[in-house]
Amino acid sequence: MARKKVTVVGAGNVGATAAQRLFERGYMDVVLVDVVEDMPQGKALDIAQSGPVLGVDATITGSNGYEETADSDVVVITAGIARRPGMSRDDLLFTNMKIVGSVVSEVAPRSPNAVIVVVSNPLDAMVQHAYSIASGMGFPKNRVVGMAGVLDTARFRTFLAWELGVSVKDVQAYVLGGHGDQMVPLTQYTTVGGVSISKLLDAEALDRIIKRTQGGGGEIVTLLKTGSAYYAPSAASAEMVDAILLDQKRLLPCAALLEGEYGIDGIYMGVPVILGAGGVERVVELDLTDDEKALLDKSADAVRELVDVMANAPAG
Ligand code: NAI
Ligand code: 2OP
Repeated sequence: MARKKVTVVGAGNVGATAAQRLFERGYMDVVLVDVVEDMPQGKALDIAQSGPVLGVDATITGSNGYEETADSDVVVITAGIARRPGMSRDDLLFTNMKIVGSVVSEVAPRSPNAVIVVVSNPLDAMVQHAYSIASGMGFPKNRVVGMAGVLDTARFRTFLAWELGVSVKDVQAYVLGGHGDQMVPLTQYTTVGGVSISKLLDAEALDRIIKRTQGGGGEIVTLLKTGSAYYAPSAASAEMVDAILLDQKRLLPCAALLEGEYGIDGIYMGVPVILGAGGVERVVELDLTDDEKALLDKSADAVRELVDVMANAPAG
């Protein structure tokens, strides 16, 4: 039986680290694609040479083209550029939109049965754009999904575990909404070993941790100075790939197309989903308090604003 196959597009910080993590799983072959000449080939060669040391006999191939990506089971898209000085948020949006659009047009016809996992920012807008192109090539909504909630939730769980002095493994939580400052950590579903967080932390501490989570990406950008987070983002992407390839039916917060769920229609946004071989197999609707629902609606408005800007993207 052939090994599962994953393509990672964009061999920068997130893409190359995700490719390394996935290769090290050992059960899938990996193709790493980037536009920069020779760079994905070099990184793939380097990762492949870790195989004998780690006891991994999967393959990893680097390429500047898409022939090698054919028949992938999952395609992870991390291609894009970061905002440069003098560039507006909309300029960045239009540039990454073009990049993500061109990547989907290359991968979708060659891997018509793949699940596409979008990582490029601004996440919710990019996954929506990816779907708009992939759907024209026969992809159903459940096979185009975005990664952000797993990362945002991991940040929330990390800060909570540090505050309480407990293992991160015992902290359960969900951060929903768009991947921006308006993301919505759900405190009523946040538990430590089944005990509600409200019994363990006072409101001031919880509020401080929620704010730190919402600014979690920015905190790392400030520290790194050149570039943004990639260790946790690549780990979160790899967790989603495992859920799909191993049909784990994990309950994970992912950006999925909402068609009435949570009272929101026609946009991609972070919600709990069952992630398995079919991609987003189901959106799970949790009961929300009025306050949480209001925050989710606000987050949806922020996503809609970007989607509206995309609708006015210059041609070409
Ligand atoms: P990076 O700059 O290190 O890597 C991006 C790579 O994309 C570069 O190697 C570049 O050559 C490549 N690229 C550009 N155009 C391409 C094209 N047309 N085809 C193939 N490759 C192309 O950036 P990094 O840190 O890896 O981040 C990647 C993206 O992921 C960014 O948009 C970033 O904002 C986003 N991100 C999203 C997260 C999330 O939670 N959704 C978390 C972390 C990053
Ligand atoms: C993050 O949250 C940049 O979206 C990226 O770290």
